[in-house]
Amino acid sequence: MRVLILGGDGYLGWPTAMHLTSKGYKVAVADSYLRRRLCKEEDVAPLFEVPDLRERVFAWKYVSGYNIKVFIGDLAEWEFVETVFRTFIPDAIVHYAEQPSAPYSMLNRRSANLTLKNNLVVTLNLIFAVRKFCPDAHIVKLGTMGEYGTPNIDIEEGWLDVDHKGRHQKFLYPRQAGSLYHTTKIMDTDLLWFYVRMWNFRVTDLMQGPVYGLFTNENEDNEQLLPFFNYDEIFGTVLNRFVVQAVVGYPLTVYGKGNQTRGYLNIKDTLTCIRLSLENPAKIGELRIFNQFTETFSVNELSKKVQSVGNNLGLNVNIQHIENPRKEAEEHYYNPKHTGLSELGLRANLLTDEVLEQMITFVLKHKSKITIDQIHRKIKWA
Ligand SMILES: NC(=O)c1ccc[n+]([C@@H]2O[C@H](COP(=O)([O-])OP(=O)(O)OC[C@H]3O[C@@H](n4cnc5c(N)ncnc54)[C@H](O)[C@@H]3O)[C@@H](O)[C@H]2O)c1
Repeated sequence: MRVLILGGDGYLGWPTAMHLTSKGYKVAVADSYLRRRLCKEEDVAPLFEVPDLRERVFAWKYVSGYNIKVFIGDLAEWEFVETVFRTFIPDAIVHYAEQPSAPYSMLNRRSANLTLKNNLVVTLNLIFAVRKFCPDAHIVKLGTMGEYGTPNIDIEEGWLDVDHKGRHQKFLYPRQAGSLYHTTKIMDTDLLWFYVRMWNFRVTDLMQGPVYGLFTNENEDNEQLLPFFNYDEIFGTVLNRFVVQAVVGYPLTVYGKGNQTRGYLNIKDTLTCIRLSLENPAKIGELRIFNQFTETFSVNELSKKVQSVGNNLGLNVNIQHIENPRKEAEEHYYNPKHTGLSELGLRANLLTDEVLEQMITFVLKHKSKITIDQIHRKIKWA
């Protein structure tokens, strides 16, 4: 199967590219280095330097023998999208290529504008490219659990059966996001659902929770192949940030009461979820939605786990509740369903003490590179 990964330089895109080639897929990646550019502009950097995409492809070929085709360009530009699809006609597309940071999207008018335009235009270009070059291809799109928000009823897997005045209809589950970034993901889902109805596409939309970790089966022995590991408030996901804070002796920054609960997953499980979705494609004319996470934790629970494992490793980890910069419920009901991917064969890599220990031990090796002023930028929602 020929798989095109949009956003192949990213935190998830690069590990996915290696994983799929190691399973026999023919893979091409496209990326504009937008994430690298935005990090530079906001003066934040990953924990360690990551070689550019061509260098990583070279390194992966050297150790594995597998090749990955690279396209560098902006997927918001139609001419580039046409070149990519004309050169590498895919059977499936994994679409990661978006501005993925909620805090970045809430920074200012310029960042809001970039997030909105980039995310929607890339998705629209993908839709038109599939129609023109490969109408039967399966689109695997990364959404987010954040699309649902924190409703006071159970969260279903994408769809809700509604009985109203004696009649019945199935609707997309109601969505109410907590940032502009998450709102663009809702709009993406709406766009895809519209074109599934119009043009009979086959689409899997994966409502993914925050991902943690950096080790996969393909990169464990080779630091050159590791993905970005951001620990700043803008691009770092919460557990990755807490691990770095623990290592450098910065009190773990729990926002508000810390009872905000979300579904999390190990980066290894992201790769499996993508592969399982590709192996079991959506049907023609179907928008299939899976909730992609393996465990739920409150921020308090996460911080206590990091504290306990860190202290056992000889660190002195403190937790500090700081004023919540976000506008979100700090106490809420949360019961999201997540059976679809397990039914396809996902066996979770859970957040054990050993997993945390491996992350902390790795970050300790890079402790001298941590810059404290990246950790807390105080980006406010309102
Ligand atoms: N990382 C998570 O915890 C998480 C959780 C839920 C959903 N997601 C979603 O998964 C996807 C990947 O996330 P990530 O953490 O790997 O983010 P990332 O920023 O590391 O990767 C996205 C990649 O897409 C590229 N890109 C963005 N716009 C582009 C454009 N116009 N043209 C070409 N390339 C472009 C970026 O340069 C970057 O390399 C995103 O859509 C994100 O919303 C991520």
